[in-house]
This record gives sequence, structure tokens and C-alpha cells, in this order.
Amino acid sequence: MTHPLAEKFSTTFGAQPDLMAQAPGRVNLIGEHIDYSQGFVLPFAIDLYTSVAIRKRNDGIVRIASSQRNQNFETFKVSEIKPGYGTGWAKYPLGVLWALGISEGLDIFIDGKVPSGAGLSSSAALECSIAFAINELFHLGRSLKDLALLSQKAENDYVGVPCGIMDQSISLLGKSGFALLIDCSDLSTTLVPLDLTRADLQLLIIDTGVHHALVDGGYAERRASCESAVAKLGITSLRELTMDKLEKSRGLLTETEFVRARHAVTEMKRVLECVEALSNSDFEKVGQLINQSHTSLRDDYTVSCPELDTAVEAALAAGALGSRMVGGGFGGSAIALIQASKTTETIKAVEKAFSSKGFKAPRFFTSLPSQGAELLSRR
Ligand code: GLA
Repeated sequence: MTHPLAEKFSTTFGAQPDLMAQAPGRVNLIGEHIDYSQGFVLPFAIDLYTSVAIRKRNDGIVRIASSQRNQNFETFKVSEIKPGYGTGWAKYPLGVLWALGISEGLDIFIDGKVPSGAGLSSSAALECSIAFAINELFHLGRSLKDLALLSQKAENDYVGVPCGIMDQSISLLGKSGFALLIDCSDLSTTLVPLDLTRADLQLLIIDTGVHHALVDGGYAERRASCESAVAKLGITSLRELTMDKLEKSRGLLTETEFVRARHAVTEMKRVLECVEALSNSDFEKVGQLINQSHTSLRDDYTVSCPELDTAVEAALAAGALGSRMVGGGFGGSAIALIQASKTTETIKAVEKAFSSKGFKAPRFFTSLPSQGAELLSRR
């Protein structure tokens, strides 16, 4: 039986793809807004994937189509691919071709199942599915870490979003059944078993439906505050800081820089405590750390919003062990660690809280820790 993606590819481009691959979105258990401060993060890949079918061409033309765009394709010249060339969503695949230094023509068909703007890293899933596919197609022999860095480069320098390295890393390196502790100072990783089912738990993802776009400026502003704090403190990254040192240097910083740095220092500590708690299957403690993370993101980092806070409060009131916003913030999704038996009850409680505040109805997903990028087939 032909794969539905291969069928879509051949309907659009009139030939079979050479290769198909996929890469997932992610949620982050804990460790938010600290990847760009050389911190630790603990995300896992979710079972929502962007898949891509790809075929070489010998005329220097790149055609890109997507099922989200009625399968129509856009046409580009590979010789012209450099930052500034292409618009809208096409900048993501073009950026990856640029970062990987591709000089041959291609037909690319994309089928994205990671909802965009939901804080679940649809952009990284798109970049990484293409980077992974190209690496296989041209036998480039790049490591997954290299592909993560090149995908981040595409997003930073081609799309123009100053994201950190977390999303691309987990999309490429995720392993089914595990969260991944990533040390963002050197991209070293440790697999952390996360068997929620055995503990009768469930990770509920609550998509607030509120628009979130990292390009809007709030994200860049947070990064800039961290960088100016680092410069004023004469250190190389917030990773070097302790609460003690930060308190002692308070006078050197503006109030904003101080609270941003406080979030980073406390969040890095929480991530390591969470890994420890998970190794003891102490999910009560994991829940508490998740809650503290949300409070810090809401009050010190100020990246939450009323819908995210409402989701978190309603989930906790319904008995969640922990709940917090995930991703860049200003909208997007929250997660709630709940007893699996309370899933329906929690969903209803959040829906009720949203409707009583006049918010648009949220969407819900659940996902176990899933597999990172993988090859689907090759001709
Ligand atoms: C976005 C960015 C990541 C990370 C998170 C916040 O998802 O792409 O690099 O900074 O926000 O933790």
C-alpha cells in the first residue's frame, strides 16, 4: 500500500519521492526560557509529527508544497537561496537548505500535524524533518546534534527568530519513553525514563488557542535582559550564577534584569531537582517543581497570560499534581500532570473556567514521550 504522504507527493509533483522522514513537536516538562542562558532543560518529543517527502531534481529548481496549503507548490531557484529570499512559511525549509549548503534542486512535500502557534514547536518539527531528510538523501553524515544546530541557525538567521536550541534538539534526539535532560552549554544529553502510565499518570496538554509568535518581540526582549545582566555581572552566562551571588550583585542590575536572572537561576535548579525526583518516582515533588516553574515564569519572567494562568489554576483546582505554561509563552499551551483517571474531570474543569471568563474553548491533547526524527522510507 502506498503511504498517504507519497500519494500526496505524486499527485502534486507527478513522481514518487526518493525518501520520506518525520520529526515531532515537543512539550517541556521543566526548564523554560533557560536554553539560551546555557541552562538545563527537560523536554520530551510528543506523538504529533511533521512528515516530509522529498525528491532530487537536476535543474536547480526547488518546489515546496504542503497539505496545509492545499498542496499547491511554490517555486524557487536553489542558486538564490540566502536570507531575505522567500516569504512566510517557505522560509523554514529554505532556511534549512541554506544552513545545510544544498546546491541541488528538490521537490519537497510537507505534511504538518503539529498545531502551529500552540507552543508545541511546530517550527522545529518542520525544520528538523527537512534537515533529517536532506541529511539522509545526500548522505551528508551530519550528527543529530549538528542537524539541531543547523536547524536553529535556519530559524535564527533565515527566518529571523532568536530561538534557543531546546526545540530542535528534542525533535531530533527524543526517545520513546524518555524525557531528555539537555545541558544547553554543550548539548550533552541524558535520557530520563518517564513512565507516566506505570504511575497511573497522564500529561494533559491544554492549547489555549491564544496566538503566540516568537517573532513578536517579547521573546527577544527577555533574551536581551538576560544578556545585559550577564554583561553587567561580568560573567559568560547566567549558568554561572547562584542565588547568593545574584543577591549580592543586585545593585548592579535593573529590577527587570534582576527578576529575569532570578527566574533563570531558580529554574536551572528546579530542572536538576526534577530529574532527581523522577529517579525516585516522586511525582508529588515533580508536580511542586512544575508549579514553582509556572509561578516564576508568570511573576519573574512575565511570559504567561490570563488564558495560561486560568488553565493552570483550573487544572490544579481539579486535582492536578502540577501545571504550568510551556514554550515561549504569551499564549500557546499549558501542561498538567494529572492522575490518568481524572482526565475527563480536568478537561471539563478547564473548559468551564475558560467559558466562564469568556475565553475561546481550549483544545486538549495527551502524549507519552515519543520518538524523535526518523526515516519513514527510502526508494
Ligand atoms: C521557544 C524557543 C526555545 C525556548 C522556549 C522557552 O520554544 O524556541 O528555544 O527558549 O521558547 O523555553
